[in-house]
Amino acid sequence: MCGIFAYTGKKSAEEVLLDGLESLEYRGYDSAGIYIPEAGVIKTPGAVSELREKIPANFKGHSGIAHLRWATHGEPNEKNAHPHSGCTDDIWIVHNGIIENFKELKEKLEKAGHTFKTDTDTEVLAHLIEYHLQKERDFEKSVLAALNEVRGTYGIAVQYKEKPEMLIAARMGSPLVLGIGEDERFIASDASPILPHTKKVVFLEDGEVAIITPMEHKILKLDATQVKRAPEEIEWNAEKAQKNGYEHFMLKEIMEAQEVIKNTLRGRLIADKGMAKLGGLESVAKKLEDIERIIIVACGTAYYAALVGEYMLEEYAGIPVEVELGSEFRYRSPVLNQRTALIGISQSGETLDTLEAIREGKRRGALTLGIVNTVGSTIARETDAGVYNHAGPEIGVASTKAFISQLTALALFTIFFGRQRHMSKETGREIADALLELPEKIRSILERNERIKELAEKYANYRDFLFIGRKYNYPISFEGALKLKEVSYVHAEGCGAGEMKHGPIAMIDENFPTIAIATQDSVYEKMKSNIEEIKARKGPIIAVVNDGDTEIPKLVDDVMFVPKTLEMLSPILNVIPLQLFAYYFARKKGLNVDRPRNLAKSVTVE
Ligand code: F6R
Repeated sequence: MCGIFAYTGKKSAEEVLLDGLESLEYRGYDSAGIYIPEAGVIKTPGAVSELREKIPANFKGHSGIAHLRWATHGEPNEKNAHPHSGCTDDIWIVHNGIIENFKELKEKLEKAGHTFKTDTDTEVLAHLIEYHLQKERDFEKSVLAALNEVRGTYGIAVQYKEKPEMLIAARMGSPLVLGIGEDERFIASDASPILPHTKKVVFLEDGEVAIITPMEHKILKLDATQVKRAPEEIEWNAEKAQKNGYEHFMLKEIMEAQEVIKNTLRGRLIADKGMAKLGGLESVAKKLEDIERIIIVACGTAYYAALVGEYMLEEYAGIPVEVELGSEFRYRSPVLNQRTALIGISQSGETLDTLEAIREGKRRGALTLGIVNTVGSTIARETDAGVYNHAGPEIGVASTKAFISQLTALALFTIFFGRQRHMSKETGREIADALLELPEKIRSILERNERIKELAEKYANYRDFLFIGRKYNYPISFEGALKLKEVSYVHAEGCGAGEMKHGPIAMIDENFPTIAIATQDSVYEKMKSNIEEIKARKGPIIAVVNDGDTEIPKLVDDVMFVPKTLEMLSPILNVIPLQLFAYYFARKKGLNVDRPRNLAKSVTVE
């Protein structure tokens, strides 16, 4: 949510900054802006391509700050785009986060004669630094003084016109990485824009301020005491995400499902022994034997994956599991102890709600584990142990391949925890074999995508959809609905099929289609009855059914076929037609599938 990139060194700052912003575009695309002390400031609504077009040939320099915005305070127009300055245009700042006490600070500054140009909380910080600079006459001290007055979250990079080679960066709750090159330094919201230049980085911690020039940097705490921290070498490469001929990242990422499962499983299954080998959990394996309860925290799509994980872990590992939204967990008083494992699931590894829930769990004594896709992200670093998804970068804002990988990783956790307890070798083997068969089954679903496209186009004029499922596929009803609403902006609701008669069925008529996930499992007969109930109310029905099913296809208007697998793994197959349906539905409407309005890929505000 909002991306920051800053540079000081010998290269052409405008080129370095624009290229870097492009790799941060997943964090926000409401507006973009760049400040180079020698050249000035340029801002625009829209994304980096729009910013590039506005940059004149003479806009050059050797340092600068740049920003991509996901709007929190104030409309996403040019005026509210970052960087922001104070009254004199000497201090410029880019910011990711929210200044919670901006109203009271603004009042104080207005009384001191400052006038504000924008509706943003960030501008207050620029004025506050300027206010202290007028008194202190020292850039470093002024930034520290200002930060000691603000409440809220921030990742910032600040420049002072009089000291163009210097950058000051600070972190509180929003991630920030310092890159250390040969006579050059970088600051970014994540390591991706830094990696093409250097692999030597320092991950700033909350409450730290970095004072940076091309040749050196120092890290201070907010009380100005110095912090010593050796840089780390990042092992991974900058994977430049490409669409590989697909029209959109979303379709490309759905089509990667086979590879994603193989990569999530690689080296982690000992199929003949019915075991899962999770290197990332080895350091805590002994403690995990004594765990009596699991809490999984996550948001959005990752939360729905967690709900499937609850069914898997309770049925096969026999451990009580609760699933919590990250945004709710920390605001109540959860009762945890050392025998509780708290698992955070996050594609980005930066979702603030999930991160704060993990921190709360840690404070309350739980052992924290992560299932994270983005290597080196804050959640990956702050949890006690965990596994990476290895799904590769997910660029489409709607999460698809990460969900498939999260479900696969949860199946591995289930074998791991189950075999530590009462799960037999045979059961472990059965799950392992079924997991290994998934890629081939996925291939057969993806090969039939033209049929799903036809269906999506047939239903593209409906404005409301109900998704129903039971047991393992109950969470898939929510995920199917989320995919459709976020990329198509139509009303879609997930609902437990059994719960439908307690209210939602009132909505059903011939203009309100239902998508029923009704594969042949232990709740198949119950799903059939629910489908009949909808039919009796004249609701159109599309059903996800197993290959070879001859009963449900006779009851419903349209079907999407998928192969059969073990019931606990069926969500992994059943969600794929729903992802494709959402994709083709939005495409038919001519919408920007990869960048749905109002959303951002990484949600680092509460
Ligand atoms: C939906 C979607 C979001 C994310 C949620 C959590 O398609 O992408 O609901 O799943 O914001 O994000 P991560 O997994 O990065 O923590």
